Amino acid sequence: MKRLRVVLLALSSLILFYACSYSCDDCVGNDQDRRCKTEAEELTSLAGEIMSSSLDNSLEKTGLIGSLEKCDLNKYSFLSDLENQFNCEIQRLSDRSRNLKSSLKTQSDYKVWEEFKEAYKSKPEIDTLLVNKKGELVYYKTISIDNKSCLNCHGNEKNMTRQFKERLSDLYPQDKAKNYLMNDLRGVWKVTFKNQQNK
Ligand code: HEC
Repeated sequence: MKRLRVVLLALSSLILFYACSYSCDDCVGNDQDRRCKTEAEELTSLAGEIMSSSLDNSLEKTGLIGSLEKCDLNKYSFLSDLENQFNCEIQRLSDRSRNLKSSLKTQSDYKVWEEFKEAYKSKPEIDTLLVNKKGELVYYKTISIDNKSCLNCHGNEKNMTRQFKERLSDLYPQDKAKNYLMNDLRGVWKVTFKNQQNK
């Protein structure tokens, strides 16, 4: 399983590298912006799959408290490798974040969030690519509660043990990421492709 993931990752890195190694400064408005969007889509899908399977593995082996860090992007070194390789920043954001650093921040975060929330009622997978004030390409994609295992840590707090709730509030005193239901909109991926001159 681990081997398969490594191979998958290596393959996708290769594809991404060739497809997105041009400067993304001039992506919007031509064929390349579509390519960049596709690559960001693949990048976030891959990251989501790897995290989700590693969460499931860990839940089975070490239980809830031992698995908390498996839902933290910073604990996955392959993500920072990809960020360096593609000169981009990969984040997850939410209007009800567990970690404050993952709250919505910029005007476009809020705007996209409102649009996604509305569109999500009829379609769970939504993504978009836009240009920010610095001229950087920014990609957003919805993250859903698409697996029952998410509810262990983001579901109804009445089902959580006292010990688990205490651990959560020690680590995340401003946690708002509980009481979600299956298929709820949980957050968004955000990939910011930095301009070539910032490399
Ligand atoms: C073992 C507990 C656990 C499970 C299971 C879990 N999460 Fe998390 N989740 C966390 C923790 C802890 C954080 C905060 C990580 C950090 O410090 O950035 C988090 C953060 C997040 C965030 C970032 C926004 C925020 O709230 O800070 C998203 C999005 C998210 N989880 C989605 C999911 C989804 C979707 C699933 C199911 C596939 C899932 N999580 C399963 C514990 C869990």
